[in-house]
Amino acid sequence: MVFMYSCLLFPILTVSMSMLVCRACKDGQIYDNTVTEEDITGVVEAHNLYRSTVALGKLENQPPAQNMQEMSWDDELAKTAQNYANQCVFKHNKDRGEGVGENLFIKMYGGPHTEREHNFTEAIMSWYDEHVHYKYKTVAQEDFHVRDLRTQTGHYTQVVWANTNKVGCGFASYSKTEEQRDELIYVCNYAPAGNFLGEYPYKEGEPDCKANGMSNSDLDGLCKK
Ligand SMILES: *[C@@H]1O[C@H](CO)[C@@H](O)[C@H](O)[C@H]1NC(C)=O
Repeated sequence: MVFMYSCLLFPILTVSMSMLVCRACKDGQIYDNTVTEEDITGVVEAHNLYRSTVALGKLENQPPAQNMQEMSWDDELAKTAQNYANQCVFKHNKDRGEGVGENLFIKMYGGPHTEREHNFTEAIMSWYDEHVHYKYKTVAQEDFHVRDLRTQTGHYTQVVWANTNKVGCGFASYSKTEEQRDELIYVCNYAPAGNFLGEYPYKEGEPDCKANGMSNSDLDGLCKK
């Protein structure tokens, strides 16, 4: 706690003490950005649970998927995501690399500074929840309309993009002293990227890895290369 406040009192200093690295970002001070092993397991499990649910046709109003691949954690993607989260900017990273997809989530808390716990599950769930607005179709530009958050479905289609099999995420909890606000930014990067305009996120049909040149993953309804 003491160190949290020292970040705020001496915003120019970088306080590095055991695991805690306090550093400045755009208009803010980061007080937590350490992704734990538990986070990694949670991120991978959440994505695969959602993907398996969709693949098996267990998600209401969505067709099953023939060719949904299992996802695994990728340290390089995670590094890129974390470096970008450290900037505390809620805007897509143009330099994330060729063929890399990206989902972002931000949470804001008004009032005096309080240490906020990060929770990747919440971010991933918010992306997945866009499925209520999605009717199986090819991806189009309007699915990424940032001005109409209610009808965005681009995060969902990235989460269930069949061909994406790697994910790496980062986050930053930071306070903006001037605005009297704490914020939490989550960044997940994906490879191969999804959301190609004019393409379906997955091939509709009962899971059939073999017919799609893959083998069955240990996870129900998912495939591996
Ligand atoms: C994280 O968020 C999810 C979804 O809102 C919730 O179910 C879970 O209890 C939260 N975990 C913690 C540790 O707060």
